[in-house]
Amino acid sequence: MSYTVGPAAQIPEGEALRVEAEQSGASEDIAIFHAEDGNFYALQDECTHEVASLSDGWIEDCEVECPLHASRFDLRTGKVLCLPAYVDARTYKVEVVDGMLELHF
Ligand code: FES
Repeated sequence: MSYTVGPAAQIPEGEALRVEAEQSGASEDIAIFHAEDGNFYALQDECTHEVASLSDGWIEDCEVECPLHASRFDLRTGKVLCLPAYVDARTYKVEVVDGMLELHF
């Protein structure tokens, strides 16, 4: 399933946007990041450690640091890079089509 989020230009480089994706009556928050490599990546918004929003985290290179306890996740793979989180984040495909962000989930 894909969802048009809106213009890619709405997320400046180094920032993120949280979107609520709905599928089969269930919804999930997904964080879309505009990484410093110029690409867009999407991860589950909720940290795999406790309840924190990764879209509120700090982005550096292709990593995001959780705002609560500072675990870092690779934006490209969802891999957790340091404790206290130890479970990888789910990733989603996001692409830019004619200047619009398309999220696949
Ligand atoms: S809630 Fe993210 S590291 Fe603890």
